[in-house]
Amino acid sequence: MPARNSEVSGAMPSMTRVRILCISGSLRRDSYNWRLLQAAGELASVEAELVLWEQLKVLPPFDEDDEPTPPAAVRAFREAIDAAGALLIATPEYNASVPGQLKNALDWASRPYETNVLRGKPVAVIGASPGRSGAAGAQAELRTVLTRIGAQVLKGGFTLPHAVDQFDQHGSLVPAHQAPLRQVLARLTRAAQQHDQSLAQALAIAV
Ligand SMILES: Cc1cc2nc3c(=O)[nH]c(=O)nc-3n(C[C@H](O)[C@H](O)[C@H](O)COP(=O)(O)O)c2cc1C
Repeated sequence: MPARNSEVSGAMPSMTRVRILCISGSLRRDSYNWRLLQAAGELASVEAELVLWEQLKVLPPFDEDDEPTPPAAVRAFREAIDAAGALLIATPEYNASVPGQLKNALDWASRPYETNVLRGKPVAVIGASPGRSGAAGAQAELRTVLTRIGAQVLKGGFTLPHAVDQFDQHGSLVPAHQAPLRQVLARLTRAAQQHDQSLAQALAIAV
């Protein structure tokens, strides 16, 4: 399995590719959601450069009093989002909802509200669980949160139920799930390319 926080796909020069920042809502070492993101890296087309982000645990709790001088970890997180053309978030489900530290990260990313780094950013939500839901409830909640923040949230998602049986001994996703995950990646890449074009056009009109 490739190291976390690393580029996990592709052979094209990164200048021509869409950079997709991959965030797992799980901090667990053997997380199924991390494995799902690793699998996405293997399945991505050469148009996409998937980068795993592993700094979730170091983000401090959100505090409005810290907003004028955000901690370094928060600034780095916002910069990582800003530098990406799109986000791919894999979330577990904790007590029928989004894991607290993932929600905390998004609260930091959402400020300042009007100009936050997620505004207009294409985001796809996926998730895995050992049970039969594939974290569907948490995914739905996460889409609600991201929509409120102003991200461009892709409709639909990808649920991986019974995750314990869905990876082979090399960590690869079993074939039955590969095509649906590839479709999510293709839609996300397209949305990021269109978003880039719209920004470039807006810039051209402004100058
Ligand atoms: C605090 C806590 C709450 C959980 N609540 C749910 C839940 O509501 N629904 C569910 O399907 N699984 C729940 N689980 C089980 C997780 O789906 C399981 O631990 C999963 O492996 C976590 O994802 P990960 O493998 O990426 O770490 C919960 C686990 C924990 C630790």
